Amino acid sequence: MKIENFSLQFYEDVVEIWKRTGISITSSDTKDELNVMLNRNPDLCLIAKIDEKVIAIIMGGFDGRRGYVHHLAIDPEYQKKGYGTLLMDELIERFQQKGVHKIHLFIERHNEDVIAFYSKLGWEIRKDLVMMSFIPDKKLYKPKI
Ligand SMILES: CC(C)(COP(=O)(O)OP(=O)(O)OC[C@H]1O[C@@H](n2cnc3c(N)ncnc32)[C@H](O)[C@@H]1OP(=O)(O)O)[C@@H](O)C(=O)NCCC(=O)NCCS
Repeated sequence: MKIENFSLQFYEDVVEIWKRTGISITSSDTKDELNVMLNRNPDLCLIAKIDEKVIAIIMGGFDGRRGYVHHLAIDPEYQKKGYGTLLMDELIERFQQKGVHKIHLFIERHNEDVIAFYSKLGWEIRKDLVMMSFIPDKKLYKPKI
């Protein structure tokens, strides 16, 4: 498996993997929006390839204080082979190089099975926190595209 920075030339491949793995694709995942994400985090948004085929995606974001992980997904045909672990290890290494102290990620309630995966990698559930969100412009944000 080869890991490289996510370039928008692979946008369609990535969206296909997100669709096949049940990742929620919102108005924040259009090509234009991801362009903003990639420009800000060019070396934290990664894809993995096998024989030049894109098989996995992970997006990291650093806001100057915390790291965030979004939309990790492995093509179903390639799951449970260690690739998710490898991709996350690479991203964490890159976060560490930037001096990030703590990294967060979000799991949708319907996808709680995946907690077992993250727990194996050392992630911890935060029982002391409640997540809240605010949408500044409801015309802009669409939960589905
Ligand atoms: C979750 C996901 C990224 C894991 O990637 P992967 O390449 O299959 O994971 P790995 O092969 O590195 O697995 C590492 C360990 O976690 C376990 N694991 C992986 N996926 C799991 C799941 N969905 N539920 C429970 N355990 C899981 C593996 O069995 C393995 O355990 P082992 O070391 O005892 O064998 C992948 O299954 C996926 O893309 N899922 C759909 C999209 C998704 O839910 N993404 C997360 C959004 S928050």
